[in-house]
Amino acid sequence: MSEQTLSNLSREERRFEPPADLAADANVKAEAYARAEEDREAFWAAAAERLDWGQKWDQVLDWSDPPFAKWFVGGTINAAVNCVDRHVDAGRGDKVALHWVGEPEDDTRDITYAELKDLVSKAANALTDLGVKKGDRVAIYMPMIPEVVVAMLACARLGAPHTVVFGGFSADALASRLEDCEAHVVITSDGGYRRGAASALKPAVDEAVEKTGDLVRNVLVVRRTGQDVDWHEGRDVWWHDAVDSASAEHEAELHDSEHPLYVMYTSGTTGKPKGILHTTGGYLTGTSFTHWEVFDLKPDTDVYWCTADVGWVTGHSYMVYGPLANGATQVMYEGTPEKGRWWQIVQDYKVTIFYTAPTAIRTFMKQGREIPDGYDMSSLRLLGSVGEPINPEAYVWYREVIGGDRCPVVDTWWQTETGQIMISPLPGVTAGKPGSAMKALPGVGADVVDDEGNSVPDGSGGYLVLTKPWPAMLRTLWGDDQRFKDTYWSRYPKQGFYFAGDGAKKDEDGDLWMLGRVDDVMNVSGHRLSTTEIESALVSHPKVAEAAVVGAADETTGQAVCAFVILRESAGDGGPDIVEELRKHVQKEIGAIAKPRQIMVVPELPKTRSGKIMRRLLKDVAEHREVGDVTTLADSTVMDLIKDKEGSAASSEE
Ligand code: WTA
Repeated sequence: MSEQTLSNLSREERRFEPPADLAADANVKAEAYARAEEDREAFWAAAAERLDWGQKWDQVLDWSDPPFAKWFVGGTINAAVNCVDRHVDAGRGDKVALHWVGEPEDDTRDITYAELKDLVSKAANALTDLGVKKGDRVAIYMPMIPEVVVAMLACARLGAPHTVVFGGFSADALASRLEDCEAHVVITSDGGYRRGAASALKPAVDEAVEKTGDLVRNVLVVRRTGQDVDWHEGRDVWWHDAVDSASAEHEAELHDSEHPLYVMYTSGTTGKPKGILHTTGGYLTGTSFTHWEVFDLKPDTDVYWCTADVGWVTGHSYMVYGPLANGATQVMYEGTPEKGRWWQIVQDYKVTIFYTAPTAIRTFMKQGREIPDGYDMSSLRLLGSVGEPINPEAYVWYREVIGGDRCPVVDTWWQTETGQIMISPLPGVTAGKPGSAMKALPGVGADVVDDEGNSVPDGSGGYLVLTKPWPAMLRTLWGDDQRFKDTYWSRYPKQGFYFAGDGAKKDEDGDLWMLGRVDDVMNVSGHRLSTTEIESALVSHPKVAEAAVVGAADETTGQAVCAFVILRESAGDGGPDIVEELRKHVQKEIGAIAKPRQIMVVPELPKTRSGKIMRRLLKDVAEHREVGDVTTLADSTVMDLIKDKEGSAASSEE
């Protein structure tokens, strides 16, 4: 990045104060910032005290060999005991841990903490019988059913790091992860329900296991759909045979605080996937504390729902470990957000805290507010957003339509690597600005810096860095310390900053606005422009449902802004002047410099299975290249639809 800073173009004047009752009774109040600043380690030690430890730690943080951190050195702890047993021991065994909702109507299960304890203990015994020992890696490839939570916690209980692979990944992707972490056991199911039908999972496991030679010894299979499966005698074991008959008594060992808890592979980048390693004590401290802090969890009265799939880090930190360590009651849903279903669940279970992604919110905006307006969602009191920058229009829609204009929205910035939320408003403290993640949480050090690592002044942009170690930070990349150093720590060696790979700007108040990955930042005529900012401008137009912007090579301006937009259903085809209308709109919202050179109205956008837009492919279209590798797309036919559009647009111009 040049010395010149990112343009700071958008203006957002709206502010939302915290509701008075929430502020008065908030778990974390404004004093926490100063307290953490004064003694960061004492702050995190207090957060760790919320958990049950065996041996207490001797040292809060060992940062003598950066970037390899050790937290709560000398402490011993069991993550599963903290997530389950201790709530039962405290007399809360009858409390519901999971309100599980299957995709087929009326297919539900409520699981109490006492029941969860028995299930986890049985599964731990069953895994032990299959030869799983402390330190062994176990792969999990499952739909959103309660057994996936049980499986993860059983692994944690044994100290066998799990690697959960998202059920939408291919057999190849699964195989490469099995190989990278050398997993000898895979836990899966026959299938799961998605979009009204049973979809198979086991065939992909069979294929992946085949590909990896004799690496995998056993496949433990949950029967979910009852569909036919190929059976490999001696290797495959039914969950209901192995787990149901196992003893519900299991003595949990206390593991070292730095014992590996799990490996999570990050998707989307080229080459070998990166296996992010998280360990036990610090991770559980960081996730449970921030879950209680940012969502203001009141375990006795709240019903919490995080819609993320367990195959992503959000599912790990804010569906499994954080909420369960806090003894929360939560909803878990198997299916996809078909029209109205989510709101039906909010109504049925009286959900109070709801955490989802901007891409989902924009999809609902596109469908129209009549759908959510048909449900009683008055139980909601707090809304969260994660995964990508939330544009102000989506934020305000979320707040007004889903949150009834009464719930604060916490826009939470973090990564697979950070393990825990790092930058977010505090719901009882912060006056939220739509589109801003606001500032680093107490005890977290974040800054926006230039190429040399100098902090940029308010009103400027640059690179987001994390300036201090934090408890749930990744410890390394599985089996690749060098790549860990190169990827995250080599950019600012002098300062020792963690390089997040995100662009950000500080507004005039010093609040943070995330601008997306730095590779999504364009340089147009020497001006740095953020794809996010332009997308946000496009989406603020009443006819636009979703937008993706890329910087395409341009002879005169270096790069030019190319936009792909999906129109709202109510906008029809947008009318004959839609392109000019939208160009003018961007000009009005941001300035002439941001006016797209080209706008294509398309029926769909290419997205990865986790919902991230693959701008690389759009760039290929914008630069009239052969479209590259589409194998990580959720729907690989999308690019054909877009190319068809381009073909017809080009011919009509001629
Ligand atoms: C992006 C998901 C803006 C960011 C927890 C980050 C966000 C990447 C936000 C990590 C947010 C996540 N505002 N951008 N609130 N949350 N991101 O590893 O680019 O799947 O680097 O972790 O998502 O994605 P990951």
